[in-house]
Amino acid sequence: MKLLVIIILQILFNFVKCYPYKLYEHINNRYRFFSTATVYKYVSPVVPFPESNCEVLQIWMVIRHGTRYPSKKVIANMSKLNSYRLINKMRSQLKNEEIDKLNSWIFYLKEEHAAKLSEQGYNDMIFLGKNIRNLYNEIFKDNFNTQDFKVIVSQESRCKESASIFLKEAFQTDIDEINLEKMNLNDPRFYLNDQIKTVTDFEKNFLNGPEINKMIDNVTRILGLDNPLDFKTVNAMHDSCRHRKARYINYDSPWCAVFTDDDLKVFEYYYDLKYYYSHGYGNVNNVKQSMAIIQDLIQNFEDKYQNKSGPKGVFYFGHTNNVLNVIVGLGYAKDTIHLTDTNFASMKDRKWRTSYLDPFSSNIRAVLYKCENEVKVTFFINDAPMYVEQYDCILCSWDSIKQLLDSQYDQLIHIYN
Ligand SMILES: *[C@@H]1O[C@H](CO)[C@@H](O)[C@H](O)[C@H]1NC(C)=O
Ligand SMILES: *[C@@H]1O[C@H](CO)[C@@H](O)[C@H](O)[C@H]1NC(C)=O
Ligand SMILES: *[C@@H]1O[C@H](CO)[C@@H](O)[C@H](O)[C@H]1NC(C)=O
Repeated sequence: MKLLVIIILQILFNFVKCYPYKLYEHINNRYRFFSTATVYKYVSPVVPFPESNCEVLQIWMVIRHGTRYPSKKVIANMSKLNSYRLINKMRSQLKNEEIDKLNSWIFYLKEEHAAKLSEQGYNDMIFLGKNIRNLYNEIFKDNFNTQDFKVIVSQESRCKESASIFLKEAFQTDIDEINLEKMNLNDPRFYLNDQIKTVTDFEKNFLNGPEINKMIDNVTRILGLDNPLDFKTVNAMHDSCRHRKARYINYDSPWCAVFTDDDLKVFEYYYDLKYYYSHGYGNVNNVKQSMAIIQDLIQNFEDKYQNKSGPKGVFYFGHTNNVLNVIVGLGYAKDTIHLTDTNFASMKDRKWRTSYLDPFSSNIRAVLYKCENEVKVTFFINDAPMYVEQYDCILCSWDSIKQLLDSQYDQLIHIYN
C-alpha cells in the first residue's frame, strides 16, 4: 500500500514557523525512520522542487556516502541473534508467517562486508548523480576539469566509490581518481579525526529509563520469552531490521516484526539524542567546529560573486559528521529546548530528526544564482528546499544570507549561555 504523508518542512536559521512543502512517499504504512540508516527516498521529496530560472554560478555540496553495510561491531552483534530466531508459536504474539520467516532467517554478512558500500549504495549515487545532471545541465555540459570542479573525498572506500559513481553519472564519463583531492584528517572543515565522542549522561539515563525498558518488555513479550532481553540484543534486532531495509528497500527484515511503531520511535529518539550531543546543538563545541565548513561555503560564494573566479562545482564526499556539521552551522533543525533523557514525549515534534537530516546518501546543496542584477542562493537538504524565515524566501539574496551567516555563530551559541 502506498501512503502519502504531508511532512511539515522545518525551518532554517533559528526562527520557528512551519512551511508546508511537498509530499513524501512511504512504501508501506509501517514506521521506517531509522536515524542514520534511513532510506534516502523516504525523506527526500518525491517531486523535485522547481529550480530557479536564474543562471547557476556555483553548486556547493556536502554528500554522505551511499547505503553501506553495518560496521564490524554491529555485524558481530547481529550474528549472535541466531539463538533467538526459533520462536515458540504458542507463546509468541507474532503471526505464523512472521515466525516462519524468523525461523528461516540466515545471517550471511561477514566481517569483510563491514561498512562497505552496498548495491543500494551504488543505486543511491547513480540516482543523485543523474538528478544533479538533470537539474543543472548547463554546469555539467562541459568536460570535467579541476579548475571548474573541486572535489574532496574521504579516503574510506565507501566514500571513494560514492564519489566515483556520482561523478560518472553527473559527467557521463569516468573521472580519474587523480583529479580528486583527499580529505585531510586534520582539516578543520572536515573533522574526521574527531569521531570518538563521550557518551553523555542523557544517553545513559535514557537507556535505563522507562521508554527503553517498555520497548524491551514489548520485544520480549512479542517473542514469547521468559527472561527480559538486554538492550544489546534488542539493539542488534533493530540493526538487522533497519540495515536490511536499507539494502533491500522493498523488503522488510523478519526482525522488523518484533517491534511496534512506538518501539521504533523510541529507538529513533535514542539515536537523535546520541547525535544531538555528539554532533548537534547539545554541545557548543559542535557549533564551534561547524564554522570552518561554513566559512568555506561563504568564501567560495564570495569569490564567485565578488571576483567571478573559482569553480562551478564544489563537492565534498564524507560522512555523517560532515553533513550534520553543515546543518548545525546553518542553524537548521534547531529546537528551542534541548533533547534530554526525560523529554521524549514532549519532543515528539522536534526538528532534530536524524532520519530526515542524515539518511544514507544525505546531502546538503547550496546553489548560487545570478538573477538579472542580483545574486541569490537556495539551500537544499536531501533535495528539499529550505525556507529562510527571517527573509521569507527560498531563493534569497546572497548579501542578506551572508550577513545572516556571519552573525549566525553568536546567535547559535546564545542558547548555551
Ligand atoms: C555489541 O555488543 C557489545 C557487547 O558484547 C556492546 O558493548 C557493544 O556496544 C555492541 N555494539 C554495537 C555497535 O551495538
Ligand atoms: C509497547 O506495547 C504497548 C502495547 O502494545 C504499546 O501500547 C506501546 O506503545 C509499545 N511501546 C512502547 C515504547 O511503549
Ligand atoms: C578577490 O580577489 C582579491 C585579489 O586577488 C582578494 O584579495 C580578495 O580576497 C578576493 N575576494 C574574495 C571575496 O575572495
